[in-house]
Amino acid sequence: MSNRPDLPPEIARRRTFAIISHPDAGKTTLTEKFLLFGGAIQMAGQVRAKGEARRTRSDFMQMEKDRGISVSASAMSFDYRNFRFNLVDTPGHSDFSEDTYRTLTAVDAAIMVIDGAKGVESQTQKLFEVCRLRDLPILTFCNKMDRESRDVFEIIDEIQENLAIDVTPASWPIGIGRDFVGCYDLLRDRLELMDRADRNKVAESIEINGLDDPKLAEHVPAHLLDKLREEVEMARELLPPLDAKAFLEGTMTPIWFGSAINSFGVKELMDGIGNFGPEPQPTSAEPRQIAPEEKKVSGFVFKVQANMDPKHRDRVAFVRMSSGHFERGMKLTHVRTKKPMAISNPVLFLASDRELAEEAWAGDIIGIPNHGQLRIGDTLTEGEALKVTGIPSFAPELLQGVRAGDPMKAKHLEKALFQFAEEGAAKVFKPAFGSGYVVGVVGALQFEVLASRIELEYGLPVRFDASQFTSARWVHGGKDAVEKFAAANKQHIATDHDGDTVYLTRLQWDIDRVERDYPDVTLSATKEMM
Ligand code: G4P
Repeated sequence: MSNRPDLPPEIARRRTFAIISHPDAGKTTLTEKFLLFGGAIQMAGQVRAKGEARRTRSDFMQMEKDRGISVSASAMSFDYRNFRFNLVDTPGHSDFSEDTYRTLTAVDAAIMVIDGAKGVESQTQKLFEVCRLRDLPILTFCNKMDRESRDVFEIIDEIQENLAIDVTPASWPIGIGRDFVGCYDLLRDRLELMDRADRNKVAESIEINGLDDPKLAEHVPAHLLDKLREEVEMARELLPPLDAKAFLEGTMTPIWFGSAINSFGVKELMDGIGNFGPEPQPTSAEPRQIAPEEKKVSGFVFKVQANMDPKHRDRVAFVRMSSGHFERGMKLTHVRTKKPMAISNPVLFLASDRELAEEAWAGDIIGIPNHGQLRIGDTLTEGEALKVTGIPSFAPELLQGVRAGDPMKAKHLEKALFQFAEEGAAKVFKPAFGSGYVVGVVGALQFEVLASRIELEYGLPVRFDASQFTSARWVHGGKDAVEKFAAANKQHIATDHDGDTVYLTRLQWDIDRVERDYPDVTLSATKEMM
């Protein structure tokens, strides 16, 4: 079963992945079918609102309000065959955010869902680029084959061209749109026939002895069969065969064709994740990498959700386990503060439920309720001073000033802003000059979400207004050089919630000038989370 027989079986059977797609391609539907076949839900439609409804603003706010739901949906664990799948959700709204990026640091692979009629869309492309930064293995699911879709070669070409990745067909669709009858499974020489009558029924699977097997003609109309033979012959000539190594290195993606809503092609995709992996991968850390099979437990925080319950300022830190076998009640060292932490009520996320995690293995995602000690990027170990790396913070692309509706509440506002900054929901900068704060985000919708959460969770109406600045850069360099630079550029200087120095400006010209005039400091659009 495992490609890594040297791993403890509990680790070898884990698959931790995310689904990336453009809105409407079918991510929610596919997730739901995964849960259905994983036995985590009884019936499709049980998980959460679908596509459009979920994305409308009011619904998004409602979801934000209903923190329980969005938390459960952030990570879902379920079993399939011998495998334990951990599916980590990428944020549902379309503003690309660093939240998405950080989520992808917690997974070992991604499924890219595309709509067969639309091909590679903008959001897919962006998310794909993020996966590429980490060389994540990608499995592709071409969805909605029950509808009119594009020519298969055209779709494959587009993926190869736009994403610069080799594509190998794992299945080949038979017929298009109304004529679509199913797929030929190229990896296992089987015919999979779609049942249009029952959307939750798994396809009928017929063993076939190659494309010349007379059995094919019993199930596939003659004109489609001719076309299938011709296309598969061409595909085998033109497209590379599956190369496990290239897949694991992220340079080749196998593609399955299917229809999530009709439960078609979903199991084959799940089998693909199971069979080809990858298993939990090593985690980059300083001063050394962490291997999943290490006996000692370690993990890192990739996401924090605050104010689950507005009455208590509690948060849940989402921790990806990097190594070992964790058991509830264990004492782990919080490396940043060097303090021990007893992890007594960690949670696991099972579809729409949360339950206490009695144990967890490398690859799993657990939630740790805490009072703010755990921040994004923090590492937990059994004592060794390891620091997980590669969880960056991006410079925000939109800046606005923020003020409390009631000036007497300025202190409260500060507290709220700092909490959101720690959660990673926004960047908060305190300019050296004047009063007030500058808030930075990646997508405009985040301002509204922030305003609504500050009001909801802290009872503080706030106003955002235009800021004189449009760009923020972290100032790196020796302590003296940074101080000297800050003193000479006070109008532009601010500190972030960690106390790090930031340069604010509205002109690229300023940034170029600093780079020219101050060779001892560098301005950077990212910083590693500490
Ligand atoms: P998303 O999370 O990626 O945004 O997509 P979602 O699953 O919500 O699917 C978007 C729309 O596409 C939904 O229709 C869904 O039913 C439909 N869909 C998903 N998979 C398939 C498929 O295999 N074939 C076809 N024909 N449609 C599919 P909707 O009208 O927005 O919602 P609903 O009324 O169906 O709930």
